[in-house]
Amino acid sequence: MSKFISFTYNHDQLFAESASLIEIAKEFGTPCYVYSRAALVAAYQEFNRAFAGRDHLICYAVKANSNLAILNILACLGSGFDIVSGGELQRVLKAGGDPQKIVFSGVGKNQDEMRMALTAGILCFNVESEMELLSLNQLAKEMDKIAPVSLRVNPDVDAKTHPYISTGLKENKFGIPMAEAERIYHTAAHELPHVRITGLDCHIGSQLTEIDPFIEASNKMLALLDRLEKQGICIEHLDLGGGLGISYSQESPPSIKDYVTALCNSVGQRKQRILIEPGRSLVGNTGLLLTRVEYLKHAPHRNFAIVDAAMNDLMRPALYDAYHEILPVVKKSSEVNNTYQVVGPVCETGDFLGHDRQLSLTKDDLLAVMSAGAYGMSMSSNYNTRPRAAEIMVDGHAIHLIRARETVEQLIASEKILD
Ligand code: LLP
Repeated sequence: MSKFISFTYNHDQLFAESASLIEIAKEFGTPCYVYSRAALVAAYQEFNRAFAGRDHLICYAVKANSNLAILNILACLGSGFDIVSGGELQRVLKAGGDPQKIVFSGVGKNQDEMRMALTAGILCFNVESEMELLSLNQLAKEMDKIAPVSLRVNPDVDAKTHPYISTGLKENKFGIPMAEAERIYHTAAHELPHVRITGLDCHIGSQLTEIDPFIEASNKMLALLDRLEKQGICIEHLDLGGGLGISYSQESPPSIKDYVTALCNSVGQRKQRILIEPGRSLVGNTGLLLTRVEYLKHAPHRNFAIVDAAMNDLMRPALYDAYHEILPVVKKSSEVNNTYQVVGPVCETGDFLGHDRQLSLTKDDLLAVMSAGAYGMSMSSNYNTRPRAAEIMVDGHAIHLIRARETVEQLIASEKILD
């Protein structure tokens, strides 16, 4: 089965489910993100089914794509959420997410964010340092509450992924070192009356394409869990983080089913509820970025296709040298291909969407930048005062605008000239 279950050609024209991308571009303009509801639901259900009756909670990592429509679809399916800011908390609540299914990750939660989460009554705080734990205990005391906590422990496992998105090595800023974990659990259990230990948590990185590092991390967590339980510290849930990769090009990551099955097998007969925090693997291949060719420039050494989407819309190529497949919305079989550098209008050489792509192009052609559902819109910016793109969700034939294109007026509305 193709990785793009909802983006397929029909008579050489690319569709999102049953909706024509040409029609979408006509109605809403470009650049725009286009998501498929069916693909999102299918990915969630694949995760859910793979747990096969085992007590579990899928906490979607909101940072991957935080559009309210996406959060709402997942909330309706019963999903939980992994948030990393007060802003993400507000989004989840607005989208109808259940606070009792929210875990709060991140190394730098501030007081306001913690207060907001304590008021909402979230499932747990994934605490990343001793100082954060003390601060949370103090705040909960002031609010006359008890904060549910899980310690994020750094298992020192090599995720074998891009260094910017590897988080589980001891030199990374994330989590509590394994060697200190037991001591801090004891502090939490015996000295801090306003926190309650609920879980144990890790996350080793993103876009992992092999199962082994996940299992290595899980085994280290389980050994710690067993030691804690022997010392009378009760752990209700084990959160094994996110990180499952998707196929952007030639990668062949494990299937969702194989990944979840391997995690469940490593946990074995233990009674803890299993949590995971997938982001990319839920939404990555459920979205594309639709863009139009503005100009073609055939220079002596290189051909450039200058399109209307740029690094501010999709930052991954510029930031990680990431590869995204670029497909023509209309396939032209007979014409000659050229090798193009597909670039945006932003004034930086790093502003590219793809290098050396074989395409047959004319001005105004539409292109689809694939696998853009995760870390696309959520990492977009207004660099070069470019209003952010519109977002569309397709559901069968139906086309829903789920975020209107920004206007320049909105961008400058809160700025002020000196009196
Ligand atoms: N949980 C925690 C604590 C995380 O930090 C992350 C991602 C996730 C879950 C979700 O990971 P996923 O399942 O999506 O791999 N901007 C980068 C990815 C950064 C990931 C940051 N943390 C990219 O575009 O590749």
